[in-house]
Amino acid sequence: MDVINVVVVGYGGMGGWHTDRIRNMEKFNLAGVWDIDPARLELAKERGIRAYGSFEEVLADDSVSLLVIATWNDVHKPLCIEAMRHGKNVISEKPVSMDTAELEEMIAVSHETGTLFTVHQNRRWDNDYLTMRNLVDKNTLGKVFRIESRVQGSRGIPGDWRKEKPHGGGMVLDWGVHLLDQALTMNDQNRLLSVWAQVTHITNDECDDGFYAELRFENGLSYYVEVTTNNFITLPRWYILGENGTAVIEDWELNGKMTLVHNWDKIDSVPVKAGTGITKTMAPRTDETIRDLPLETVNGKWEQYYDNIYDVLHHNAKQIVTHRQMRRCMRLIEAIFRSAETNQVVPFDEP
Ligand SMILES: NC(=O)c1ccc[n+]([C@@H]2O[C@H](COP(=O)([O-])OP(=O)(O)OC[C@H]3O[C@@H](n4cnc5c(N)ncnc54)[C@H](O)[C@@H]3O)[C@@H](O)[C@H]2O)c1
Repeated sequence: MDVINVVVVGYGGMGGWHTDRIRNMEKFNLAGVWDIDPARLELAKERGIRAYGSFEEVLADDSVSLLVIATWNDVHKPLCIEAMRHGKNVISEKPVSMDTAELEEMIAVSHETGTLFTVHQNRRWDNDYLTMRNLVDKNTLGKVFRIESRVQGSRGIPGDWRKEKPHGGGMVLDWGVHLLDQALTMNDQNRLLSVWAQVTHITNDECDDGFYAELRFENGLSYYVEVTTNNFITLPRWYILGENGTAVIEDWELNGKMTLVHNWDKIDSVPVKAGTGITKTMAPRTDETIRDLPLETVNGKWEQYYDNIYDVLHHNAKQIVTHRQMRRCMRLIEAIFRSAETNQVVPFDEP
């Protein structure tokens, strides 16, 4: 087997995550790491990992064919471009770039140099996401007309550079990228028509510390995405509404349930007390017409991401995270900021 030599650039939290995994892979070999912070290089050495002396030294190492760029967001573009110009294949951490203009430059260099260029959208393999998708794909709830996808924290924006605009801080470019990529990937062939969004600044003035976004797709699906960081009571990770059922996935441990209606038309009900009045419309259904079922859970195999990189480089396979998808996600991010700024629903022109 032709093992691929990899260098991880940026040996922080996520760089450490990649190196731990690459060290256990058969098809890849961790050649070393590079970081501008000497303390991180020292730590790498202590862990038995080669620390390169400079980025130029990495680029000059002909045995290395793949770089993983796991730095602050603002330097993804220059590092990726420099690497590709030296014939290296590149995986960028998300967000791939700060905006669409940067991304177009990066894609152009990838075409010019014939090198692989993609982004690490690992959350396409998250169990909660795949469990939700499975419900939709199998039509378990009937036609799904509404999906709500939330992640909620209570500590504001973590860390340092994530609070700073010049480094690409803020939650849209952080968790937002994952949740938006998930929404777009499962609607890969479903045109996105429009976007409405608000960004929040509850704990931070410089960067958004969260956002709410409503996506409207051509098939009628309304898809809500929320990333918030000042929530001391949280809502479920997923809420999925279909014509014949509703599902809730509470958390990453896949707690949750679905409720299916098996006799939709049996809608007679006795009015129930509601606040200062009564209601038939909002009276809960009884066991006569609905039943609760456990979720059918799906386990993602994140390793498929690196397997695909190997197959692209050695077997001419198509890359899973494509340039078209990267562009679509970055354009959606820009639409979110535009909508929030103008307080308008923004049309999304699919090319
Ligand atoms: N895919 C995921 O699930 C996931 C999770 C966390 C972070 N990330 C992404 O990974 C990247 C890094 O995030 P993090 O949490 O590891 O940040 P971090 O601050 O822990 O690590 C970033 C490292 O990059 C180094 N660095 C900065 N500029 C550099 C340069 N020009 N050359 C070399 N090294 C440089 C810093 O010194 C630091 O050690 C970000 O793009 C982030 O969005 C992805």
